[in-house]
Amino acid sequence: MSEQPSLDKPSDAPEPTPSAAPAGDRKPLLEVDNVTLRFGGVVALNQVNFTLYEGEILGLIGPNGAGKTTCFNAMTGVYTPTEGAIRFQGGKISGQQRFKITKMGIARTFQNIRLFPEMTALENIQVGADAHHRTSVPGALLRLPRHRREEKDGLKLAHDLLELVGIGGTEHEAARNLPYGSQRRLEIARALATRPKLLCLDEPAAGFNPAEKQDLMQLIKKIRDTGVTVLLIEHDMRLVMGVTDRIVVLEFGRKIAEGSPAEVAADPKVHAAYLGVPADAA
Ligand SMILES: Nc1ncnc2c1ncn2[C@@H]1O[C@H](COP(=O)(O)OP(=O)(O)O)[C@@H](O)[C@H]1O
Ligand SMILES: [Mg+2]
Repeated sequence: MSEQPSLDKPSDAPEPTPSAAPAGDRKPLLEVDNVTLRFGGVVALNQVNFTLYEGEILGLIGPNGAGKTTCFNAMTGVYTPTEGAIRFQGGKISGQQRFKITKMGIARTFQNIRLFPEMTALENIQVGADAHHRTSVPGALLRLPRHRREEKDGLKLAHDLLELVGIGGTEHEAARNLPYGSQRRLEIARALATRPKLLCLDEPAAGFNPAEKQDLMQLIKKIRDTGVTVLLIEHDMRLVMGVTDRIVVLEFGRKIAEGSPAEVAADPKVHAAYLGVPADAA
């Protein structure tokens, strides 16, 4: 009697699983597809595969000589993979010219600082901004409190970027007169001036003390929160654990692990690769 087959049971539809969103919802931004890169007899990258998703901070780690910088170089058009392909927003970019890749929205900093030492901080940034035609400024950058209007973006963006990276007020200083840490930050500002969708940082905390490293990690999170996806090469594993969403580990040109920071930290292969640098070192 009380059985009212269809009316009484409003919905038997399977419940959506709200917490199961991540995997399906993530949009690939950059795909490294089976990339091998040889320099003569040296296999710097050996069938490397990984995907970078929009909005994440992906760590690329591994001992010296693992192929991290080579990976950046392949992604930014410095080298063409011997085999395999790299795709950005679905389109193949491997083999394309560097400026085209920059224009598509990939920016990088270098392991060794590459500023124009005699130019001011502002000029260094403007060089970055002028390196290609203007496209859309990551909208969120403009939503920062200091931002007022979008026009006159060249100069204004430069000022704002200096502010964003924490060295506001250094506009007219020659780059070579800035403290080392500020130079590293200026490099990041210059890369951001190309209005990238993807920012690749090659050991941005090299030479930093622990406090400076922590500050830098906060900056990286802040940049990601403006809508820029970040690929971070870093040698300090503890640091990477604290800031990344996922981590890819290279060793001798091969990917040996990939996963969440916790997964990677617990992986014996990673420990072996980092012998002497345990992931949970105090
Ligand atoms: N231009 C090059 N010519 C020859 N070998 C290179 C070149 N660039 C990198 N390599 C070699 O490729 C390997 C990976 O180097 P790299 O990508 O710089 O490592 P990582 O950044 O992880 O320390 C190393 O053995 C390095 O000597
Ligand atoms: Mg390197």
